[in-house]
Amino acid sequence: MDAGVLAQVLRDLPPIDDPNVLVGTSTADDAGVYRLRDDLALVQTVDFFTPIVDDPYTFGAIAAANSISDVYAMGGRPISALAIAAFPEAMDPQTIGAILRGGAEKAREAGINIIGGHTIKDDEPKYGLAVTGVIHPERILRNSTAQPGDVLLLTKPLGTGILTTARRSDRIDDAALAEAISAMVTLNRGAAEAFEHCAIHAATDVTGFGLLGHLREMVAGARAGAEIHAHRVPYLAGALELARENVVPGGTKTNLRNALETGTRFDGDVEAALHLLLADAQTSGGLLVAVAPADAMRYVQQAAARGVRAAEIGVITSEPGIRVRA
Ligand code: CO
Ligand code: CO
Repeated sequence: MDAGVLAQVLRDLPPIDDPNVLVGTSTADDAGVYRLRDDLALVQTVDFFTPIVDDPYTFGAIAAANSISDVYAMGGRPISALAIAAFPEAMDPQTIGAILRGGAEKAREAGINIIGGHTIKDDEPKYGLAVTGVIHPERILRNSTAQPGDVLLLTKPLGTGILTTARRSDRIDDAALAEAISAMVTLNRGAAEAFEHCAIHAATDVTGFGLLGHLREMVAGARAGAEIHAHRVPYLAGALELARENVVPGGTKTNLRNALETGTRFDGDVEAALHLLLADAQTSGGLLVAVAPADAMRYVQQAAARGVRAAEIGVITSEPGIRVRA
């Protein structure tokens, strides 16, 4: 859903007053966190969506990587998952099997099993996971606790929304989508394991609200701002050219509108196509990490040792709003 509409409807829900709820709905975080004991909390999240690629196995793998990512974004360790799915009555059972197998094998790669689930009939297929993780209550990585001066790092390139939209309308071929698929099926496990021994102050994953939307949630929670450099942000090959041709999903345009309405300002020398790319709705995007400046290089190195390229894209500032420089 549109971030603005979602925030509005969530505001009208009864408040959460259980002291064991360590992270609830008030900070637009990646997952809920519930304390079981002083040294143990559950991390809970659910995500599902319609196919974004043609191949059913790949769709299942992307959906699973995307769902598990919210546990990593909290600093948690996933332990199990349940599948949630909708399939058309006429869908070939082999196709359904391939989606479920893609999800199950991706879950195994994350070291967990899918231990149950629920399916319904629906004209439009949908698949995803409800994932449970564990975390020490003192090591929760909220999205709302960044500090001015923190360095902002991003662990995957942007552009999956634009590229998958272009593939659906046959603007690009499978080969041009390959890099986006490889980014989307990549677990954020390595990016999260690299948190070890680094003063990470806040983290979230970049998904449907785009980099600017998730960064806005981060700075709003911290009552801070951010400054990012558009040319330091990594982009998938071909995405900028497609944005210039206005091959952009509707969600991305909504994200950009929300960003402009909530205090994001672009310097005059940042081209319009980059505005869209920075707002592009991502599926299974990378982690956005706010780290103490002294530990930024350590994080980059620890991520690189796990095959993850963490790009330094900007800083958290004390003045509110997001400024995008060229
Ligand atoms: Co998330
Ligand atoms: Co989510």
